[in-house]
Order: sequence, then structure tokens, then C-alpha cells
Amino acid sequence: QVLPVIMAGGSGTRLWPLSRAGYPKQFLVLSGNESLFQLAARRLAALAGPDFELSPPCIVGNDEHRFLVLDQLREIKQDPSSVVLEPQGRNTAPALTLAALAALEGGTDPVLVVTPADQTVTQPAAFTAALQDAIRIAAEGAIAILGITPDRPETGYGYIRTTQDNGGLAVAQFVEKPNLATAEKYLAEGGYYWNSGMFVLRASVWMKALERFRPDIAEATKASWNVRKSDGKFVRPGKAEFAAVPSESVDYAVMERCPGTDIPLRMVALDAGWNDLGAWEAVWQVAEKDGAGNAFVGDAIITDSQNTLVHATSRLVGVVGLKDVVVVETADAVLVSDRSRSQEVKQIVNRLGAEQ
Ligand code: GDD
Ligand code: MG
Repeated sequence: QVLPVIMAGGSGTRLWPLSRAGYPKQFLVLSGNESLFQLAARRLAALAGPDFELSPPCIVGNDEHRFLVLDQLREIKQDPSSVVLEPQGRNTAPALTLAALAALEGGTDPVLVVTPADQTVTQPAAFTAALQDAIRIAAEGAIAILGITPDRPETGYGYIRTTQDNGGLAVAQFVEKPNLATAEKYLAEGGYYWNSGMFVLRASVWMKALERFRPDIAEATKASWNVRKSDGKFVRPGKAEFAAVPSESVDYAVMERCPGTDIPLRMVALDAGWNDLGAWEAVWQVAEKDGAGNAFVGDAIITDSQNTLVHATSRLVGVVGLKDVVVVETADAVLVSDRSRSQEVKQIVNRLGAEQ
């Protein structure tokens, strides 16, 4: 039995002003006609095959976004197996733990296909094939991680070094978000992959690994699960108990610590046009462009410009003579940024604080 788990509780601040606290990036339509979350749900539904039974997805997200989750799933005619609602974000390790506890409830130990909700993939057939490989590996008790061949020293990702064994790839080292000098060294050395943020593993394997490496997170999350309240498909862990759970990502809590232990961590290479739409630069990269490299969404007139991205949501935006610039217009805020510096949008959001 295979259960997709979509982690959809992040905030995605670098896509401000489109991405807001009440409407974070995974629910935005950034390429094509569907949101990143909807695209993720569709990719997972396409994993169905003859070798296993595929359950509807379990969504773990923030209580504030429960109607976005349900409405967006309804639009693509999907019915989740459950929607676990966190009173506040505690990062991905507690989120995955809630999903694993929900999965183990039924007395079975399904293979979880854990995926972020903020990525795009351009080659669905290659995606399906790689994930099915990973499902086979995970069914035998290992953790399978999906790796991407890097093309730049990106510091926002995890890095994986592999070794050959038994006809596959074992993870020899996992380093989450190295600094720039280290990332440059990895690229120069070669043989490193980026972590895609997708993991495939049995629910019991996750619990065992977490209990080994971070028993504090395991215990605190179980305490909040034990006092959960269910309301149809919605499941809410105890509020005060969940507030006491340490905040940590899957990568720092478990993945970095697996190499060299008896918890087998294996990698499957994913060559499927993967992109993590972390910042406006990446949105421009995957967008459909005119002959001069300009991309736009909404009402925009672009003349004599090159390699620009214009995203208009409520008014007409005109752009003349610009190069490598991002313009994002919304009803109450406008961003104008150098395309190559779109990572720094985070600083604006930090200054805005809770007002964003
Ligand atoms: N439910 C829930 N609760 N989901 C969360 C939370 C939370 O508290 N925090 C983040 N998420 C969701 C996000 O919405 C996203 O879909 C996914 O979990 C990953 O979180 P990010 O915050 O986007 O992680 P990241 O991009 O910094 O890093 C991860 O992804 C990279 C690839 O995109 C790591 O796994 C890196 O190693 C990896 O390279
Ligand atoms: Mg991300």
C-alpha cells in the first residue's frame, strides 16, 4: 500500500508580494493553469501502477489554509484520505510525523511518498518512473531519496554524495544547506546531487529513525497526536501539545544523520525537469517566454525589453526598455527587483514582519 503525503504548510516568503501569510506560494498558480499544490497532487495520482494499491493523498498543512486545500483538491476532482491541520508551523519533521502516525492508525505500514508542494516537473513520465523505483526500494525497508543533478552552487538545497552498491546508489553523506564556499567545492569535486525534498519510506521506518535521532520530536509530536480531534477529513493535533514540539526539518532531524548507521538511505536520480520555485528567478526560468526572453502573467504590455518577468494580478502593467527585471503587481503591493537578486525579497518580508 502506498500513501502520498503532501507537506503544504510552508510560507514561501521569497515570492512576495504574491505569496502572503494567508495565501502562501504552494497555492499560487505560477505556471500553467493550476497551483503548485494541485500540480503536486496530480503528479502523485499518476503513480498508480499494477504493483501496489495507491491511496488518496494525506495533506499536512496549516489550519489557516484548510479551505484552500479542500477547494483546490475539489477543483482537480481529488478527495484526500485525510487533511492534518497544524495550529502553527513546526517545520517538516513534525509534519511528517503526524502523517506517519495517521498512516499507522489503520494497522498497516504503508510506503509514504513524501513530497513538498512547491515544485514543478516538466517530464511527468520520467518522474513516475523514478518514484516507482523509489517505492520498490522503500517497500524493502530503506529510505529512498530523490536526487537532482546540480547545475549551480545553490545554498538553499541539501547536498547528497553517493556510492555505488548492490547495483544502486547508497547515500554516503547528506549536507543540508551548505554555505556558498562548500557548495562551490561540491560542484567542483563532482559526484554530488541536490536533495529534491522528496522522500519515500515506510511509516514505521520514519518513526524508528526519528525515535533514534530525535526522540524529543517523536515524543512531543505523539503527545499532540494522542489528544487530536477529528472533524470529517480534518484531523487537528492538540494545540498546546503541538506548540511544545521542537521545530526542525526532516533533513536536519533525520536525513543528515543516517549515513554510517544501520538505517539504509538510498538515492534514486530524478532527471525530469525538476524545479523548486523558490524565488522569482526560478519562476522566470520555467515560464513560457517570447523571442526576447520576456515572460508575463496577467495584463501586461512589454516593449523593447529583455529577459523580464511581469506578473500583474489586478491592474495593467506597462514596461519599457527594461532588462533582467522582475515586476510583480498586486492590489496592495508592487515589487520591482533585479532578476538576479530576487532571493533578497525575503528581506522585505522580514522588515514587514506580521503585516505582510
Ligand atoms: N505541513 C507543513 N508544516 N509543511 C511545511 C512546513 C510546516 O511547518 N514547513 C514547510 N513545509 C512544506 C513547504 O510548504 C514545502 O512544500 C515543503 O514542506 C518543504 O519546505 P521548504 O521550507 O520549502 O524547504 P526548503 O525548500 O527550504 O528545503 C527543502 O527542500 C529543498 C528542495 O526544494 C529541503 O528538503 C532541502 O534539502 C531540499 O534541497
Ligand atoms: Mg522549498
